[in-house]
Amino acid sequence: MLIDTYGRVATDLRVSLTDRCNLRCTYCMPEEGLQWLAKPDLLTDDEIVRLIRIAVTRLGVTEVRFTGGEPLLRPGLVGIVERVAALESRPKMSLTTNGIGLGRTAGALKAAGLDRVNVSLDTLRPDVFKTLTRRDRHKDVIAGLEAARDAGLTPVKVNTVLMPGLNEDEAPDLLAWAVEHGYELRFIEQMPLDAQHGWKRDGMITAGDILASLRTRFELTPEGSQERGSAPAERWIVDGGPHRVGVIASVTRPFCSACDRTRLTADGQVRTCLFATEETDLRAALRAEGAESDDENIARIWKLAMWGKKAGSGLDDPSFLQPERPMSAIGG
Ligand SMILES: C[S@@+](CC[C@H](N)C(=O)[O-])C[C@H]1O[C@@H](n2cnc3c(N)ncnc32)[C@H](O)[C@@H]1O
Repeated sequence: MLIDTYGRVATDLRVSLTDRCNLRCTYCMPEEGLQWLAKPDLLTDDEIVRLIRIAVTRLGVTEVRFTGGEPLLRPGLVGIVERVAALESRPKMSLTTNGIGLGRTAGALKAAGLDRVNVSLDTLRPDVFKTLTRRDRHKDVIAGLEAARDAGLTPVKVNTVLMPGLNEDEAPDLLAWAVEHGYELRFIEQMPLDAQHGWKRDGMITAGDILASLRTRFELTPEGSQERGSAPAERWIVDGGPHRVGVIASVTRPFCSACDRTRLTADGQVRTCLFATEETDLRAALRAEGAESDDENIARIWKLAMWGKKAGSGLDDPSFLQPERPMSAIGG
C-alpha cells in the first residue's frame, strides 16, 4: 500500500507520458515552449508498463490516468494501454488530453482498453482559443471530443480553466453546450504551476465566481459533500438533473486531506503532490545493475517516497514556493 504519515492511501496513479505539448496555453507554457526532456531521460514504454504493473500488483493502485504534456504525442500510447489492460489486476484507465488527434486515435484507444477521457477545452470561441492556446486548433478539439464520445470513451469529461479578461464570461455557455452534447464539464481553478510564474491569487477566477456565474442561468443543487470523497471535483446537479457540473477548487477549497494520488513524471520521478518540491528517482532504481527482476526494491522505494507526502499543498503558507517544474513537466 502507498500510505503516508497522515493515513492517506494513494490508489490513483497519474502517469506523465511526455513533457511536450502541441499547445501553448498561457497559464501553462511560454510561447517558445520549454527545454524538453532528452529521449534517453524518458522512461521507455517497457519501463512505464513495468512501473504500472508494480503499482497495481504490489502497491494497491486501482486507477491509472495517462497525462503529460500531451499524452497523444507519445507514439507508444496505444500499446501501453493495451499492455496495462492485460495486467492481472487491471486498473481503471483514463487519459487527460487536449483532444487534438483523438479524432484519429479514439477508436484504437477504446479497443486497447482505455475506459474514458478528460478533454481540456477552455472556450467555445475559436478566436479566444487561439489567444489562449496560441494555436488555431479549436475545431480539432471539438472533433476529438465527438470522436471520444462516439468511440464510447465515456463519460467524456471536459476540463476548463477560466482566465480573467479572456473566457471568464463563458461559464454558462460552456455548461449549456456540455449539457447539449452529453459531456461532463469541470472547471479547474488556475494554479501557480505556469512556467512563467505569472499566477496571481488576486486575479484568479475562484470557484465562488464560477458558481455565481453559472447560477445566473442554471439551478445548481449540491450533490452532497459525502460524495466528494477523494474526488477533487465538488459536483452540482444542473436544473434538477441528470446532468452534473464539477468545480475543482484546488486553490480556494483544497482537498488535500482526502488526496489519494501518486504521480510519475515522464522521466520516472515519483511526486507525492503537484506542489511537491521533492521527487524520488525511480528511473535510476529501474536502470541500476541487477534491477531487472527486483520489483520488490522498486515498490519499497515508491512506498518510502509516499511516506514523505506533506499534509497539504502549502498554497496558503506565506513561505509557499512554486515547484521548479511547471504543470506540463509534472503531468497535470
Ligand atoms: C497540463 S494538461 C496535460 C494534459 C493535456 N495536454 C491536456 O490538455 O489535458 C492537464 C490539465 O492541466 C490544466 N492546467 C495546466 N496548467 C494549469 C494551471 N496553471 N492551473 C490549472 N490547471 C492547469 C490544463 O488546462 C489541463 O486541463
